[in-house]
Amino acid sequence: MTEAAPQSETPTEVAGLEIRGLNKILGGRTIIDDLDLRVEKGELVSLLGPSGCGKTTTLRMVAGFLAPDNGTITVDGRDVTRLGAEKRPSAMVFQNYALWPHMTVFKNVAFPLKIRRTSPAELTERTEAALELVNLLHHRDSRPGQISGGEQQRVALARALVQEPKLLLLDEPLSNLDAKLRVKVREDIREIQQRLGITTLIVTHDQDEAMSVSDRIAVMNDGRIEQYSTPEQLYGRPQTMFVASFIGSMNKLAGTVVDGRLQDSEEISGVRPEHVVFSATAEGDALPAVVERVIPRGHFFELVLAREDATLHGYFTGRPPAVGDRGGARITESLTFRDGVLVEEGR
Ligand SMILES: Nc1ncnc2c1ncn2[C@@H]1O[C@H](COP(=O)(O)OP(=O)(O)O)[C@@H](O)[C@H]1O
Ligand SMILES: [Mg+2]
Repeated sequence: MTEAAPQSETPTEVAGLEIRGLNKILGGRTIIDDLDLRVEKGELVSLLGPSGCGKTTTLRMVAGFLAPDNGTITVDGRDVTRLGAEKRPSAMVFQNYALWPHMTVFKNVAFPLKIRRTSPAELTERTEAALELVNLLHHRDSRPGQISGGEQQRVALARALVQEPKLLLLDEPLSNLDAKLRVKVREDIREIQQRLGITTLIVTHDQDEAMSVSDRIAVMNDGRIEQYSTPEQLYGRPQTMFVASFIGSMNKLAGTVVDGRLQDSEEISGVRPEHVVFSATAEGDALPAVVERVIPRGHFFELVLAREDATLHGYFTGRPPAVGDRGGARITESLTFRDGVLVEEGR
C-alpha cells in the first residue's frame, strides 16, 4: 500500500469512546434520540446543553448506571453496552460528589479498590498516589465535612482516578463551586487530564466552562447533538441558530446583511457583538446610530446602538460614549440562517 486513506473518513485508531445509535425512552418520552458520538483516545470532550436536554441520561448510560433501549457503547474498541458499571473501564464523578461523610478522605478514595479486594499494600500505594495527584495528601485523615467544596470535588476526582479508568466521566463537576473556584478547578481538571492522557467526557450546561477546557464540544438540544466541533468552530461557524444563540452572545436580526445594511428577507442574520463597531462619525459602511445604553462589562463596555434598520449590541473598549451620543455603527461580519440552519457567511 502506497497511499493511506484520508484519516477523517476512515479513522484507523480505535476511539476512546464511541456511542452509536443511542436511544432512551423515559416516562413515555424519547429522552435520547439516536445519538452518535466519537471521542478520540486522550481527548477531552464536553457534552453541552440546556438543563433537561438529556446530558445526565447520556452519561449514566455511558457509565453503566442506566441501560439504553437501543445503541452501542464502546470504550477503547471494547463493547461495554451490556456490562454493569463496576465492570466497565470507566469511572464517574457525580454532580453532588457522593462522598461518605463518616469516612476519612483516604477511605473515600480507597473505597473502589476495597470493594475490588485490592491487596492492602497496593490499596495504600494507589490511594496515596491519587491523593497526591489532586494535591490532597495532607487531608488524608480529614472527613468531607471538614474540607472546602473545592477540596471535596478533588476527593471525588481522586476516587475516580484511583480506579485508573480508560474513560473519565464527570457530571457538572463545577456546579457546586463559586465562580472563582470554578475557574481554578476546571484548570486543575484539564491539567490532570492532559498529564494522564485520559479520555474524558464532561457534562455541563456552562458554555464558558466547556469552551475553556474542551478539545471538542458536542452541543446537545432535546436529546440530540446539534453540532460537534472545536470551540473555535462552534463560536465562529455555528451550524444552527440554536448553537449560535447558546454559545456566546448574538444579535438576532430579521433579514440579510448586505454591505453592512439589513435588508428584508425570509432569513435571519446573526451578528456577534464584537462585529458591531461604534465610531464617533458615520462613514463608509457605518450607518448613523444613537447610543441607547452603556453597560459596563469589566475591561470593556457593551453598547446598545439604535440604527434605522436595527438595534445592535456592540462591544467597546476605551472611553465609552454617553447615552444619547450620536455616531456610526458598522457591522463587520454576519452569519445568515435559513430555517434555523447556517447558509452562508456574510460580510
Ligand atoms: N427516570 C426518569 N423518568 C422520566 N423522565 C426522566 C427520568 N430521568 C430523566 N427524565 C427526563 O429526561 C430529561 C433529561 O434529563 P437529564 O438527562 O437529567 O437532563 P440534563 O442532565 O441535560 O439536565 C428531562 O426532561 C427529565 O425530566
Ligand atoms: Mg444533568
